[in-house]
Amino acid sequence: MTTAFSALFEPGRIGHLNLRNRLAVAPMTRVSANDDGTATVPMRDYYQQYAKGGFSMIISEGLYTDQLYSQCYQQQPGISSPEQADSWSAIVDAVHAKGSVIIAQLMHGGALSQFNKYRSEGPHSAGYGPSAVQPLGEQMKNYYGSGTYPVPTAMTPQDIRDAVQGFADAAARAKSAGFDGVEIHGANGYLLDQFLTNYTNQRDDKYGGDLKNRLRIYLEIIDAVRKAVGPEFVVGVRFSQTKVNDSRYSWPEQLEAAEEIFGAMRIAEVDYLHTTEPLLTRPAFQADSTAPDGPSLATLAKQASGLPVIANGGVSKPELAETVLADGQADLIALGTAALANPLWPQSVLNNKALKTFDYAMLSPIANLECADRYFAAAD
Ligand SMILES: Cc1cc2nc3c(=O)[nH]c(=O)nc-3n(C[C@H](O)[C@H](O)[C@H](O)COP(=O)(O)O)c2cc1C
Repeated sequence: MTTAFSALFEPGRIGHLNLRNRLAVAPMTRVSANDDGTATVPMRDYYQQYAKGGFSMIISEGLYTDQLYSQCYQQQPGISSPEQADSWSAIVDAVHAKGSVIIAQLMHGGALSQFNKYRSEGPHSAGYGPSAVQPLGEQMKNYYGSGTYPVPTAMTPQDIRDAVQGFADAAARAKSAGFDGVEIHGANGYLLDQFLTNYTNQRDDKYGGDLKNRLRIYLEIIDAVRKAVGPEFVVGVRFSQTKVNDSRYSWPEQLEAAEEIFGAMRIAEVDYLHTTEPLLTRPAFQADSTAPDGPSLATLAKQASGLPVIANGGVSKPELAETVLADGQADLIALGTAALANPLWPQSVLNNKALKTFDYAMLSPIANLECADRYFAAAD
């Protein structure tokens, strides 16, 4: 097949997974699960459409890991029980039947939890985080939230051990359900990122203070997950600087942070890194007159880790994605909103079809599949 976008459609590889091209669907929470956290038939069809549309890798929405404090959103799916994991087998099979791989994103909401059907009986009824610091911003309305976030209580060492174990158990369940790998959600302001971020982590134990300590929970989780799934199963980690509730944060140690964080991932022997920025090519750290074209976060991740990197953020047109891949800034490109607007994006590009522009109305008033269906029906 000839295409102007040869880098996009070149086969790829992550761990032992062979990928038919370099295009992934970014993880996107769609708050469409049953009340008990199991996945539904419309969710199966939703994920399968991306495989039919030619994406070689699909990363699931963030799945909560345990029945303690990890759930973040009402109608969020979980992978905290065998029943929840089993409910994903039909989705996994539907995606595999169309030639794509599917990775389970494991997510712990921490202090950004807007809803948790399990925690009301627990000691942290308002939720927990690394420290008792009220999150910035307001809860997300299209995920059923309203008002400010409650002040979390600070996690005890036992809470941290339980959360780490939750990731390991969830990863084992993902493997049993047939997923091709797991992605540890270390980005966007959720629990792990709360540890990494200096203003949400004010601990004075081994999990707080310098960068090495703030990164510790990532390494403990990677280690526990690896032990739970064995050496062959794909394990990736997602990183960002900005957060759902803070679009301005940048790693205070800048380049030094990138080198330490991504270098630690090389040593931890994860299979891939996934970076997300508002625009995937933007210089990771404040550009100034001496460095107006500094490297992107994806480029730094590749340089410091030597691992395959999935880059995400702001891609709607194939030209940009092609350039990033051809320049060697990343190995895969993950599309979020462009995939929502164009579930068949890879095929549309191959067949030279016009691409639709993403419209936030699609996720309104609730970011679930039902509202999106209604939006598309009205647009037809
Ligand atoms: C509806 C929606 C839900 C999202 N849910 C998640 C999620 O569960 N986990 C995650 O890591 N990122 C999540 N994101 C962020 C996306 O993965 C992606 O980083 C973001 O949309 C920017 O990429 P884009 O410019 O290609 O859309 C979500 C984004 C959207 C639009």
